[in-house]
Amino acid sequence: MKSEHYLSVKEAMQKGKGEVSIRGWVYRERKSNQFIFLVVRDYSDIIQCVIKKEKVSDDLWKSAEKILIESSVKLSGHIKEDKRAPTGYEVEVEDLEVVHYAENFPVTKDQSYEYLLDIRHLWLRSRKMTAMLKVRSTVFGAIHEYFRSIGYYEFHSPIIIPGGAECGPTLFEIKYFDKKMFLTQTWQLYAEAAIFALEKIYTIAPSFRAERSKTSRHLTEYWHAEVEVAWYDLEDIIDMAEGLVKHVIKRVLEKNQEELKILERDATKLEPTLKKTFPRITYTEALKTLKEKKGMEVEWGKDLRTIEEEKLMELYDTPVFVTHYPKEIMAFYKPKDPENADVSLCFDMLGPEANGELIGGSERDMDIKELIKALEKLGEKTEDYSYYLDTRKYGSVPHAGFGMGVERLVKWICGLDNIKDAIPFPRTMNRANP
Ligand code: 4AD
Ligand code: MG
Repeated sequence: MKSEHYLSVKEAMQKGKGEVSIRGWVYRERKSNQFIFLVVRDYSDIIQCVIKKEKVSDDLWKSAEKILIESSVKLSGHIKEDKRAPTGYEVEVEDLEVVHYAENFPVTKDQSYEYLLDIRHLWLRSRKMTAMLKVRSTVFGAIHEYFRSIGYYEFHSPIIIPGGAECGPTLFEIKYFDKKMFLTQTWQLYAEAAIFALEKIYTIAPSFRAERSKTSRHLTEYWHAEVEVAWYDLEDIIDMAEGLVKHVIKRVLEKNQEELKILERDATKLEPTLKKTFPRITYTEALKTLKEKKGMEVEWGKDLRTIEEEKLMELYDTPVFVTHYPKEIMAFYKPKDPENADVSLCFDMLGPEANGELIGGSERDMDIKELIKALEKLGEKTEDYSYYLDTRKYGSVPHAGFGMGVERLVKWICGLDNIKDAIPFPRTMNRANP
């Protein structure tokens, strides 16, 4: 190679003229008697490169003739603007090294979704997947940035736990030496212990749900962004959820316009979320709206199903907070509203464009008697929760928190049809490979 200083494809196009060296993978190739066109891809972009037979050595021409898609190459040559090239620039190759000749790449056009999932390890290289992964990286970074900028501590709770938290049937059992243990569904119960030390904490960690549902928004392993705060009430925690989502959207719109374009996502759909205050309605008001505006009757006391959430969200262009769900159907730690014992001090944040629940959160019950009563009703062994119940014995304080499914957020932001495309290697009931 003439120069061992490689530019990324994007940097090379920014340079725009003169000699450049780049390295990457062959994204497309087209060969004729006189010309070989290679579209070369790296992490940053793609660029057309042309090899002219009359201008290069026989050896170079012969090594280029054998190139198949996804071969890895290093090359240098002159770059210039070319309106006909896919990204507006072309490199005329003077020097070429094939680092590895690829075998026939199994990804071609018109393959089934399931097949693309079977070869996800290779499909990751596609432009859409790469774009999603970049947005995903922005989202994780923005979540950390948001919490750290307001002085929150990152706290980690165990993944292997002795008992449940959300609901029994979706717990994954694991063999832990000669005992039965479980994979965590949430950091929450341990986080509640930790607020007595740190007061304001957050995490982003994997959560596990043995979901039998085959929907476009359920994974069995997902990344869960959670927060727990001492002295916070329902309104405080809802304000925080809104602040977090706005911050993430702001960062994505700043950093990922190109990726959203590759994903064919209409980025203007995300703008109302930045500009408007998210509506806050109670569960009871949601039922009334569903009846009046959508002709859907939901019996008071029943949880909102996917179809009802979607119909409701047709009326909005930002996320919406639905609060005060019936106490009876809520997790054991959600307290009743002192002003109405039938409802609980909790919320779900529903996403627009049929994305369903993005966040679930609540105040936490301070009353140990109520907690024991609720656990017994669920048939849980209160001994398994003794550490949790201890937190209500020594200086209990009001507190609140929430959990956000990061893949659900990425799915909405990127406008994806299925949550499986919001994570590199998805895990569902029917898919745990590769
Ligand atoms: O509503 P969930 O079950 O709430 C909790 O786990 C609370 N302990 C969180 C807390 O207050 N710290 O789950 C929270 C969020 C949901 O709103 C949803 O976005 C996501 O986690 N989620 C899933 N995402 C993907 N696949 C699944 N199977 C999910 N289940 C929940
Ligand atoms: Mg929930």
